[in-house]
Amino acid sequence: MFIEPARSLKGELHIPGDKSISHRSVMFGAIANGRTEVTHFLQGADCLSTISCFRRLGVEIENTPERICIHGKGLHGLRPSKELLDVGNSGTTIRLISGILAGQPFASVLDGDASIRRRPMKRIIAPLREMGANLTGSENNCAPLKIDHAALHGIHYISPVASAQVKSCVLLAGLYADSQTSVTEPYVSRNHTELMLSAFGAQVSSQGTTAAICPEPVLSGQNIDVPGDISSAAYFIAAALLVPNSEVLIHNVGVNPTRDGILRAAQAMHAKITRLNEHTVSGEPVCDLLVTSSNLTGAVIEGGLIPTLIDEIPVLAVMAAFANGTTVIRDAAELKVKESNRIDTVVTNLQKMGADVTAADDGMVIHGGKPLHNAVIDPHADHRIAMAFAVAGLCAEGGVEIENAECVSISYPGFYQDLRVLR
Ligand code: S3P
Repeated sequence: MFIEPARSLKGELHIPGDKSISHRSVMFGAIANGRTEVTHFLQGADCLSTISCFRRLGVEIENTPERICIHGKGLHGLRPSKELLDVGNSGTTIRLISGILAGQPFASVLDGDASIRRRPMKRIIAPLREMGANLTGSENNCAPLKIDHAALHGIHYISPVASAQVKSCVLLAGLYADSQTSVTEPYVSRNHTELMLSAFGAQVSSQGTTAAICPEPVLSGQNIDVPGDISSAAYFIAAALLVPNSEVLIHNVGVNPTRDGILRAAQAMHAKITRLNEHTVSGEPVCDLLVTSSNLTGAVIEGGLIPTLIDEIPVLAVMAAFANGTTVIRDAAELKVKESNRIDTVVTNLQKMGADVTAADDGMVIHGGKPLHNAVIDPHADHRIAMAFAVAGLCAEGGVEIENAECVSISYPGFYQDLRVLR
């Protein structure tokens, strides 16, 4: 896919539904009693993998363009799957569903694509085993995972990483434990599980970096309207900031404070972004974002800010490459274990375009302001790398060519069309 440079971006956009919230709506709807109806569900490949796994576990799920409807089976109503559960490319599916399956009275096998088979699963195997779960991975603790029946005990888990996937996995297993389960993280990660499970009727509490859950709740089906995904909005936020003479209004973006780090980082870089029409949808803060072209400056992105913008770091690095001054991204070693090693994929592709950037073990340093030029971008089948470099192409001399550009369908099937509309 060739991305031509843009002279200006103008218009309004509705971003597809939030990926994290869409996954959770299916999972929690499946183990609740009664119907769960979900509007603005993200029809990306990852969320479709979650639907397909729960169908295999005996849950009826209707999927129409207007809504999805999940006919919940209750906490103890899932049935064994005859085939293995294929999570495709989705880390959220495999890690969260493992927590649910650890509490079932039957065996399951989970597997996924080549990227999933490389991603670390010890981070969920260790706490689930501590709870008593019967769970094995491959030799190096990766997928495929085999999970068999075992009685689970409540634990207090101190997680070495700030990861909502780990936290959610342990809390979901906690639904099936014999006493309270809690997780403490180094920094607070996204809290959609805590918010949504408590709307379904679970007893969940959060204090500082600790979240706790009580076992055996009665969960009741809910109506969920999924906010637009700030991780998908981030590409258009960056594009409107970087392309001169641009003004873009992005509607209905989820701005949960555990997810809105990209807005805080952009503000530190002197971006002009206005939050309009702030309100709450299905317990999640939402607003419209008015973004206008800005002269960006470098910033230091670190510490507790990192988990709140972890998926936006590739596009943030692109913003930094066009900003004046130096941007330092640190405390972000988690980037190495995403869909690709995002320190490598960002740094090598930016270097190909002529940027002054060096990799570090936990991030990168970008000396911005050098003009970028045309290059062929290999996204390593990582949707977020493809979209971040499409944004880079809008501002590079000669644009960019993105190989395997269709990998964006993991989280944003209509990405290139939406970009065309704004040109
Ligand atoms: C997600 C959590 C994040 C994020 C991923 C989605 C979730 O992963 O990178 O895209 O839905 O819980 P970690 O929690 O492992 O950082």
